[in-house]
Amino acid sequence: MHITIFGTGYVGLVTGACLADVGHDVMCMDVDRDKIESLERGELPIYEPGLAAIVQRTSALGNLQFTCDPFRAVAHGAVQIIAVGTPPDETGAADLQHVLSVAESVGRHMAAPKVVVVKSTVPVGTCDQVAQRIRAVLDRHGSDLDFDVASNPEFLKEGAAVTDFQRPDRIVVGTISPRVRSVMSEIYEPFNRNHDRLLFMDVRSAELTKYAANAMLATRISFINEVADLAEHLGADIEQVRKGIGSDPRIGYDFIYAGLGYGGSCFPKDIRALLHTAGQLGCKASLIEAVEDINQRQKSRFVAKITSHYGGAHKLRGKTFAVWGLSFKPNTDDIREAPARAIIEALWNAGATVRLFDPVAHAAAIRLYGGRSDLVIAPDKYAALDGADALVLCTEWREFRAPDFREMGSRMSSRTIFDGRNLYVPERLRGEGWTYYSIGRPA
Ligand code: UGA
Repeated sequence: MHITIFGTGYVGLVTGACLADVGHDVMCMDVDRDKIESLERGELPIYEPGLAAIVQRTSALGNLQFTCDPFRAVAHGAVQIIAVGTPPDETGAADLQHVLSVAESVGRHMAAPKVVVVKSTVPVGTCDQVAQRIRAVLDRHGSDLDFDVASNPEFLKEGAAVTDFQRPDRIVVGTISPRVRSVMSEIYEPFNRNHDRLLFMDVRSAELTKYAANAMLATRISFINEVADLAEHLGADIEQVRKGIGSDPRIGYDFIYAGLGYGGSCFPKDIRALLHTAGQLGCKASLIEAVEDINQRQKSRFVAKITSHYGGAHKLRGKTFAVWGLSFKPNTDDIREAPARAIIEALWNAGATVRLFDPVAHAAAIRLYGGRSDLVIAPDKYAALDGADALVLCTEWREFRAPDFREMGSRMSSRTIFDGRNLYVPERLRGEGWTYYSIGRPA
């Protein structure tokens, strides 16, 4: 099948590469010429395990091509997948300008019927807007060409995007057209062999499913973080409570890890967009509002833990903190809405210096904070600890799980750890002379 993908971000690139890898003939289009030229050289704009090899392999085979030319892009695919960004605008609503400009382009350049598939995360009703925009452009050009617009939200996780795409839990497709149904079945057939993962529904339900899924997951995280707060006050241990509730299959173990709260490019943006939609409709979404508030509070509570250890924010002036982890979660260099940023910035505001180590996000750190005299980017996790008054652990990268505590202690000026991800066993650390703070466990 000939497929065009608009947008070479996480979703677009992973979708394009994985569809090409199973034999589809894919063309990825982006308006960013530098990005397209780098991709043509086999250089990826993002770090995503397994993706580079697939891009190189499929490009070499000729199944995956890149272009900045909208005419070529629209001509290529019988199916046009829109996977461009929907960043929040100043009100928190999803900004649809990129999605609608692709719709405009498809309308302007199409010379044969097309199936247009919206994969970007978009508010309910956007597929209708896309259809209206394409129809308006066709009308302007006196064309009565036929097209369909379907919703096909993406559920992949950064850091596991390739395997999530290749082994999906479900493939949601919003369409009521039998023709589109059969086209989408054909596209996804290689990923749908052993079990039928395709869930067909109406367009609006598919659009809402995406927001509901992210809101539900974010709710679990804020819920456990709220219980962690209670646990701290009650002298209980959230890690025990997590196991205790997760063993109930109705609850399950996923997404109930207490920590610094959720970050990334999806949950914060989608929660705010959903709240915005609810507001517009005059619906009260108090649960989702609370999810967002708790998530914000989680970061400030952690900072408060640090400041109260030292006897007030003013006491942080001149101190040095080693920070392990900047990316919003492991296995990605994405630092959008990373909780670490809020912590680091609070430490700076109090006059402290940060010695940062992250296994892959150094380039992102330099782009964001380069040139600051109160930031040292360390070459490895131990070097970050040299002379530090405390370690602040923000992201649970695998290499932080079992460090050499003796080596750590010998490099730091004080054996103090603020662990935002509950990676270590409190009794063990305290037994070795560490002052150890974590989330939702007795101090
Ligand atoms: C999330 C969803 O998991 C995907 O299904 C969805 O497709 C994607 O958003 C999207 O909308 O595109 P992602 O943002 O890559 O994926 O990351 P997650 O692995 O879901 O983690 C989100 C945040 O929650 C991270 O900051 C993570 O540290 C935090 N988290 C996760 C917790 O604090 N506790 C947990 O138990 C789980």
